[in-house]
Amino acid sequence: MEDHPILETGFNGLSRPMPSLPAEWYTDPAHFDRELTQIWARSWVYLCRADALDGPQAFRTFDVAGQPILILCDQSGALRGFFNTCRHRGSILCQEASGTFKKPLITCPYHQWAYDLTGRLRATGAMRPVQGFDRGEHPLLPISVAEWGGFVFACLDAQADEFDVPGGEEAALVANWPLADLKVGHSYTKRLACNWKVFWENYNECLHCPNIHPELSSLVPIYGRAIMAREDDPEWADHAEDASPHRAGTLRAGAQSWSMDGMAQGRLPGLTEDDLAAGQRYVTSVPSVFIAHHADYVRSVRITPLSAQETELSVDWLFDAEQLADPDFDIARIVDFGILVMEQDGHACELNQAGLRSAPFRHGMLMQEEYEVFLFQDWVRAQLGEPTLA
Ligand code: FES
Ligand SMILES: [Fe+2]
Repeated sequence: MEDHPILETGFNGLSRPMPSLPAEWYTDPAHFDRELTQIWARSWVYLCRADALDGPQAFRTFDVAGQPILILCDQSGALRGFFNTCRHRGSILCQEASGTFKKPLITCPYHQWAYDLTGRLRATGAMRPVQGFDRGEHPLLPISVAEWGGFVFACLDAQADEFDVPGGEEAALVANWPLADLKVGHSYTKRLACNWKVFWENYNECLHCPNIHPELSSLVPIYGRAIMAREDDPEWADHAEDASPHRAGTLRAGAQSWSMDGMAQGRLPGLTEDDLAAGQRYVTSVPSVFIAHHADYVRSVRITPLSAQETELSVDWLFDAEQLADPDFDIARIVDFGILVMEQDGHACELNQAGLRSAPFRHGMLMQEEYEVFLFQDWVRAQLGEPTLA
């Protein structure tokens, strides 16, 4: 962050108060559509775990940026993605959220055009052959699909940059977590009455932590100081060698994981003492997912924008298969803590959204600690082709 006109040098913070995004960007349906087109349809978006498509002919459908998407496993075991739209007259092809094709064919429910699992048009139902029609010119419309750590991402934009490891440097810090081998032990879905950006803004600051998250602030003492990391403290260099949790950002003394009692149940294979000591590590792939890594499990939180004022969270808790099979494993101690924190955040997000509807409120103000909120908002401006402030 050196030499940044708006970010402090020497610690993480804004050097001056900055205006937040225009309030109508959180409520206006036309602006929401613009964000779907210019952000969501151009980004690599997290969809599901790879093992949710377990073997040839398995499929799942999604809504990405308001568009119907079909992801499948082809005969060779490779993942492929298509717009879930028939090339004849545009019907939806697969109506179910998930399933397995009985044959290696995708048959349109309207007039029975049929495609193989690579997307090639193979049959045109009862229609008579007509001169000048070449099946080869009407394959399913493809989208790009990529996998990282067993997480499946897709991108609708053929011109977009190639898939890159999500989170950049963050991914290097979780290199020892056996992500691809983990299994979903619990899932949870929640609709929030807030714009998707409100969710990310809340994620990107801890000013709310002491007030909104008493239990989490007790478990992660630095959160109780309303900051996210050691370097957020303007005086951090004076305490750079201090390893105590409220300076270092680790869990309170004796705690091992994010759970109701702060204890871990075993540990994931491959983690080092340094990994375990971290308490939590995040990989963040805006706009669609963050993944929290702990000693004994991983939690992914997928974000789907439903409308200007509605967002859906789809959360998976991932575990080692042996741990899940252990009769003494108490998954509730982990899941209950995550839900407690997410419901606290969800309530805060809904409060934020409700207030944004006041007509004379034009925009908010970002204070020193909200540097990550600022960076997120400037990223949004850049994606929309609006002038950035940095
Ligand atoms: S729309 Fe699919 S076969 Fe007619
Ligand atoms: Fe929070």
